[in-house]
Amino acid sequence: MNEQIIILDFGSQYTQVIARRVRECNVYSTILSFDTPVAEIAALKPKGLILSGGPASVYAQSAPLPDPLLFELGIPVLAICYGLQIAAFFLGGKVEPGGRREFGKGTLRVKDAGCALFKNLPAELQVWNSHADKVTKLPKGFRSVAETENSRHAAIENRSKKQYGLQFHPEVAHTPRGKEIISNFVHTVCGCGKTWTMRHYVDQAVEEIRAQVGKERVILGLSGGVDSSVAAALIHKAIGSQLTCIFVNNGLLRAREADVVREVFGRHFKIKLQYEDATDLFLKKLVKVTDPERKRKAIGKTFIEVFESAAKRAGKARFLAQGTLYPDIIESVPIAGNPAAMIKSHHNVGGLPKNMKFELVEPLKRLFKDEVRQLGLELGLPKEIVYRQPFPGPGLAVRILGEVTPDRLRIVREADAIVVQEMKSSDWYYKIWQSFAVLLPVRSVGVMGDERTYDFTIAIRAVDSQDGMTADWVKLPYDLLERLSSRIINEVKGVNRVCLDISSKPPATIEWE
Ligand code: XMP
Repeated sequence: MNEQIIILDFGSQYTQVIARRVRECNVYSTILSFDTPVAEIAALKPKGLILSGGPASVYAQSAPLPDPLLFELGIPVLAICYGLQIAAFFLGGKVEPGGRREFGKGTLRVKDAGCALFKNLPAELQVWNSHADKVTKLPKGFRSVAETENSRHAAIENRSKKQYGLQFHPEVAHTPRGKEIISNFVHTVCGCGKTWTMRHYVDQAVEEIRAQVGKERVILGLSGGVDSSVAAALIHKAIGSQLTCIFVNNGLLRAREADVVREVFGRHFKIKLQYEDATDLFLKKLVKVTDPERKRKAIGKTFIEVFESAAKRAGKARFLAQGTLYPDIIESVPIAGNPAAMIKSHHNVGGLPKNMKFELVEPLKRLFKDEVRQLGLELGLPKEIVYRQPFPGPGLAVRILGEVTPDRLRIVREADAIVVQEMKSSDWYYKIWQSFAVLLPVRSVGVMGDERTYDFTIAIRAVDSQDGMTADWVKLPYDLLERLSSRIINEVKGVNRVCLDISSKPPATIEWE
């Protein structure tokens, strides 16, 4: 078992960020619910515990409270924000409404440079605060080691018990040296080594996959996206020809996508690849379908049918592999205002065929997306796949408003290829979450040479996002936008106007349908 740090989640929007920061220090981390019994925690033998922040007040009736024996485990503790208030509340301190909510940037003044958390850090640090309550009386055995303008006890410690509390958030980017504070906690205080790397993980995962699968066969639905691609390469490394990948071409893919997948997985990795061209069937099911939900359902249902029949032809397999990631399985603490509640239901379309009886192989389910990318590189997948922007399951169909027809598909596909090319050559492609073209079946008048045209409009969508749940439109430079517009209008027959989508999510969504 890996050395690990356990993070108890009290409903903070930053819990997963804490877990990622710990892993960036090459230490494995696991998120558990705030009320996990101490016996369960102790059984996992963590080297340290981190208590997340959270929106509640410790005195609120429904305040999430941990097992009171948590602080008796003898395991080092780092309590962040609400976590600090929990520590104060349980250990004989006092928490009071702060009067003034401290929110945003602050300057931390370290009073005791001997505190292990601030090892090799300057006496003044920029930090990010977000709290209303504050600790007014220290818990027994604790000392204040740093302060901000607003709170005398911005960092506290019980050095002999290795228990620490921070009023600010070391995990967020607005605390620029926060990662070093976390590193000091996991390495200096908890004594963790740098044992969590994707190089080590490959060996560990290969062993686990072999132990789970034995001599049985595994099938995997390969979409060409990052997750299924990395899962395929990893499982193939573990069990070779016992893996069959099924790649369904639904006719709604980007230009060259099917070729890239066949090239990389079939020819380069020599993975058994069953290629199913179901273009005609999908397009038939989409005739006259204009409602976005009906479109998504039709595609999801057809995908399952095609996949099921392909899986039967692939021969009997006991296992189905999936590229499930860690954020998909973390049970988020259901606290009002938790952004997890905003995930669109449509993302489940195209999931596991329900009446197929398989056991699951999910070798990425302990990993965050950035780790999956690292793993992909470790396994020798090309950058083109590893750093691919997300692409929706229903493909270009949700980027054509109204009915999907072969000609509209050609238009949006050609426009998309230009967007991808220009974004890559200007290096913007890898800096942002997503960039693509949307076809608006609205005709407007234009002139081309001496001819009057009456053609469609393409909207350019470029957004930045952490996880797809919220997003900002990206301010692409004018010269890039100019190139996009003139190339699309000149090269894509049927388009005479290009617009830029300047809506953020919420209230808009990233995809138009
Ligand atoms: P929305 O449009 O909901 O999209 O703001 C958020 C993110 O999810 C992607 N997306 C999908 N991904 N199947 C997927 O695998 C889908 O049906 C689907 N719909 C949207 C979208 O591209 C964006 O990154």
